Amino acid sequence: MTKDKSYFDRFSITQEITIAVVAVIFLMISVLGVIVAKALIKNNEEKIAWQKKTNLQIATSLLADPIWTVDTNNIKNAASTFVKDDNQIIAVRVLDEYGDILVENRDSSMPTGNFKDLLKVKNRFLDTGAIRRNNEKIGTVEFIYSTQKFNDELSWLIIKLGISFLVVGLSFGALILWRMKKTITEPVNRIVETSKKIAEGNYQFQVPEENVIEFQLIAEASSAAVRAINERDLELKRQIAKAEQATKAKSNFVSTMSHEIRTPLNAIIGLTELTLDSDLSGEQRDNLETAKLSADSLLSIINDILDFSKIEAGKLELEMVDFDLIALLEECEKILALSAKKKNLNFRFHYRTEDNYFFRGDPHRLKQILLNIINNAIKFTSEQGEVNVHLSVIHRENGFALIRFEIQDTGIGIDKTKRDNLFEAFSQEDQSTTRKFGGTGLGLSISKKLIDLMGGTIGVESEVDVGSTFWFQLRLAIGDKKR
Ligand SMILES: Nc1ncnc2c1ncn2[C@@H]1O[C@H](COP(=O)(O)OP(=O)(O)OP(=O)(O)O)[C@@H](O)[C@H]1O
Ligand SMILES: [Mg+2]
Repeated sequence: MTKDKSYFDRFSITQEITIAVVAVIFLMISVLGVIVAKALIKNNEEKIAWQKKTNLQIATSLLADPIWTVDTNNIKNAASTFVKDDNQIIAVRVLDEYGDILVENRDSSMPTGNFKDLLKVKNRFLDTGAIRRNNEKIGTVEFIYSTQKFNDELSWLIIKLGISFLVVGLSFGALILWRMKKTITEPVNRIVETSKKIAEGNYQFQVPEENVIEFQLIAEASSAAVRAINERDLELKRQIAKAEQATKAKSNFVSTMSHEIRTPLNAIIGLTELTLDSDLSGEQRDNLETAKLSADSLLSIINDILDFSKIEAGKLELEMVDFDLIALLEECEKILALSAKKKNLNFRFHYRTEDNYFFRGDPHRLKQILLNIINNAIKFTSEQGEVNVHLSVIHRENGFALIRFEIQDTGIGIDKTKRDNLFEAFSQEDQSTTRKFGGTGLGLSISKKLIDLMGGTIGVESEVDVGSTFWFQLRLAIGDKKR
């Protein structure tokens, strides 16, 4: 049982592996990236904390004496040493113990104005430390740090690392995919090709060897299957050829035999007819008439067997002549009218009289089909029933006509189980049918084979105890009216 799959459920092995590899690589890069970025940020924070501590220590050692002696020049010099690029300090201010500004120094790129206004920009913070001399606070130093440059450098480093990871990861992924292609996709494709060849019925090939152990096992199993199928195939072909030869021989035999029987039988019928024309006593005439009836029925059976074996042996050839279909129907009516009358049946032919019914084909075989099917309808319909034969021209185009016959009866009908092999040879419903109605059970099978030979179709609709409708359609060339 196959389940309906959406488009996204259908992937090839290559696509599945590609998706898996790319996903794993991206996951790895993301996790690695987050770990590295976190480590770098932490490292940065530690570096800033260390700088803060160091700067305060330096400030205490450099500023204690000048503040004590109120040596403004030296305070200035000391303060200026802090405002340096690599220090991240953009401004410094030294205050005395009362909070009055002694010295202020800021980076030349910084605007003038209120010292604390510098803090309004992002990534800046203030660090304050007391300057002590002999444990006594004599002043304060204020540093404004800017981590902007530091952060920019860090971001750039993270981007560079990310790109490197990506390049390395993708190269690694490509390498894995290339290897997977060699070890999985290509062998799978080879196995698919092998299976296709087997499905097409081509067993004359060598299954390629595989490097991967599992695929080699599959290849060996396929090889064994191909060998086994090949051997069975050859054996089957041998058996079929033998059987065909035997069937042909049997058909030939039956056809020769029927022919051989027909010749003396025709002589018997001819001579019986001749004798019937002469002067005979009432009893002699009765006996001879019964003998003739039996001989006629025997001849009809032999004709059926001959036709059947001819078709089976592929020896039956169809005629191609112009004929009048209505004249043919009238002949059928004449032949069958008596048996229909005997059973008191309502037996009618229906067709549109204004149509043209001149066609090209094999009128004798068409008559044989019609006689067979109409005869069945009469045979299997009880007294007072109905048998209607409908002829219609479905359409005409390009010199051809599609014609349809429907032979409708109100007879015994045909069971559903029986209908499937109704057109097979010797398919009478049961032995009692043969006993009650006679016949060999070849009529429908010959009719079907003839209709097949003419390129037509035949079928039946039926209901037990209600009746049957046998129909057949033929595509016939439109014939010459004036002939
Ligand atoms: N019109 C019908 N109504 C009911 N049963 C039918 C009808 N036509 C055919 N059958 C069934 O199909 C069987 C096969 O028909 P078919 O014409 O092949 O053989 P048959 O008439 O028995 O013998 P044959 O035609 O060789 O003399 C019949 O025996 C009968 O059981
Ligand atoms: Mg019949």
